[in-house]
Amino acid sequence: MVVSRRGASVRAPRVSFESSPPPAAASPRIVVGDCVAEMAKLPAASVDLVFADPPYNLQLQGDLKRPDDSRVDAVDDDWDKFSSFSAYDDFTRAWITACRRLMKPTATLWVIGSYHNIFRVGTVLQDLGFWILNDIVWRKSNPMPNFRGRRFTNAHETLIWAARQAPAKDYTFNYEALKAGNDDIQMRSDWLFPLCTGEERLKGRDGKKLHPTQKPEALLARVILAASRPDDLVLDPFCGTGTTGAVAQRLRRLETIRNVAEQLLNRPQLGREVFQRGAPEPIAEIKHPEWSATLYDLLTAYAGRRQTQARSFVRMPKRTVWSLAEAREALERLIGLSMEWSPLDQYLAEYLVEPSMKATVMASSFAATLELVREGHLELNQHAAFAPLYVRKRQKTENGGVAAETGNG
Ligand SMILES: C[S@@+](CC[C@H](N)C(=O)[O-])C[C@H]1O[C@@H](n2cnc3c(N)ncnc32)[C@H](O)[C@@H]1O
Repeated sequence: MVVSRRGASVRAPRVSFESSPPPAAASPRIVVGDCVAEMAKLPAASVDLVFADPPYNLQLQGDLKRPDDSRVDAVDDDWDKFSSFSAYDDFTRAWITACRRLMKPTATLWVIGSYHNIFRVGTVLQDLGFWILNDIVWRKSNPMPNFRGRRFTNAHETLIWAARQAPAKDYTFNYEALKAGNDDIQMRSDWLFPLCTGEERLKGRDGKKLHPTQKPEALLARVILAASRPDDLVLDPFCGTGTTGAVAQRLRRLETIRNVAEQLLNRPQLGREVFQRGAPEPIAEIKHPEWSATLYDLLTAYAGRRQTQARSFVRMPKRTVWSLAEAREALERLIGLSMEWSPLDQYLAEYLVEPSMKATVMASSFAATLELVREGHLELNQHAAFAPLYVRKRQKTENGGVAAETGNG
């Protein structure tokens, strides 16, 4: 339907979108036409939430160029052209009045705009008796730069949230849900979202974007989640690509899935609430743990855990070792010219000042003794297994040989 709208220089098809069914209807509706005229046909006091993204009235003077002289794809569509501020104000008053008639007393309205139009919209809202609840700043994380470098980067848009009238009572604000979704911190009035880009951005076959001002779904999701209930009727008079309707539908589907899951979980369970015929019905044993630990128990358990997890560093002391060379040198010196059998331990006694040295002194001395015996310097004698070892300097015989004395060692 092509319907004229006061103030617009060229007429084009306009689209309005309703999401969530009115009480009797079942599915969302898209109404094609001028929103002011089409809203006049809808029943009064039937809408719970209005989200409006009206023309900005950008008043662009010629093409906007980048430093490389390429043209910026700005909003230069006919629907955004108004002959004067007063024409824009008339149009604004007309659509807001039409929305107000459709709003239930508890309904609220959101309008998004830029510095070009939001102040004019705010004035009209207050003039018509709306009660402003908040202005929200949508901070764009990826704004378009200011190409001429003559102003600040325009990095935000403003949303006005208003109740139909003062005093604002019984309107929907899902404070707790928003807080829960925000790390349990109150939701603030400055929201950070990127512009609609990537997969979400609707494009034509030529790869160019279908609409110059498609809003991000995350922004709409926050608005709808904040200010509506699952079965509410949401109205968007300036549908554009239909972001509001699409998001409202998706949230509705999520709500349906949540409800179905809840119903499934709450159904009687076999073996718990219902039993097969003939099946034994055991007495349910319901256990309630009772904690009886004292503060002392808790502290002890805590200390125990800490202890098992605590790091400890163990440094192994370097062992003192008596080397074979040292042992041999000591034996040669100690036994000297002794021709008497003497227990090997006796020679070692002076080296065993420290008990920890016993093993190394014994081992090295024994090895050195064997070496000296093999080389013919010493004789070794042991009378029985594990009996003390006797040692003496090897006896030379008169003919220059060595005296043989047998032992059993
Ligand atoms: C700023 S855009 C909205 C974009 C939309 N929020 C989105 O996410 O795609 C405004 C839209 O309103 C439409 N429009 C302008 N005047 C209208 C009117 N009188 N009735 C219905 N639609 C209108 C334009 O065609 C344009 O698509």
